[in-house]
Amino acid sequence: TVSGTQLRELLQSGRPIPPEITRPEIAEILRRHVKAPEAPRKGVLLWFTGLSGAGKSTLARAVEKRLSHHHVEVLDGDEIRTTLSKGLGFSKDDRDTNIRRIGLVGRLLARNGVLAIGAAISPYAETRNEVRAHAAAEGVAFVEVHLHAPMDSLVARDTKGLYKKALAGELKHFTGVDDPYEAPVTPELSLDTSSMNVDACTAKIIEVLARFGVVA
Ligand code: ADX
Repeated sequence: TVSGTQLRELLQSGRPIPPEITRPEIAEILRRHVKAPEAPRKGVLLWFTGLSGAGKSTLARAVEKRLSHHHVEVLDGDEIRTTLSKGLGFSKDDRDTNIRRIGLVGRLLARNGVLAIGAAISPYAETRNEVRAHAAAEGVAFVEVHLHAPMDSLVARDTKGLYKKALAGELKHFTGVDDPYEAPVTPELSLDTSSMNVDACTAKIIEVLARFGVVA
């Protein structure tokens, strides 16, 4: 009895195929066309960092849409804060806890082949670097994208009306107004979202992802 599965396994392993099953010259042709199975690919942890309104959620969704044939999961700060990080505030400790949680989930997804996208302000460089180091320890690439725009444009956009409140002193400890933001020094990519539109930014991000084996 000859099973197709056994024959494929023989071809993939490179072991000889008995001539009573397939003539050697045919086996040779088959062998050239059967590739050895590849090790499952690791995903990537794509990390957007930047002030509120800089475009993190918008670009995370745009990348997700562009890569619709990939396994993609977006971990958005605003959403995570209603579930996994519910109850956390905006002190340094709480922000760090939030980032470590997003980092952990992102890393677990990425090590199973998913393109995980973190989209949170993540204002502290040391905490982002900690997430990067944990990812690297598991062979997951951390691709940091710094999204920025001049304060004038952020205030003009003010989609959530929070800058207005923060500047009026009604909302305390607002990142970029009266709370720190530490810009990354050597991110994989840095984009000024006030001078480039969503499509152009998405294209740049896809270009960088291609270097890490994520193909559009
Ligand atoms: S992070 O600092 O822990 O990374 P995260 O991205 O999850 O922040 O949440 C930021 C969002 O929370 C902002 O986009 C804004 O809508 C809201 N927010 C409420 N208060 C603050 C604050 N004091 N500083 C920054 N964002 C705030």
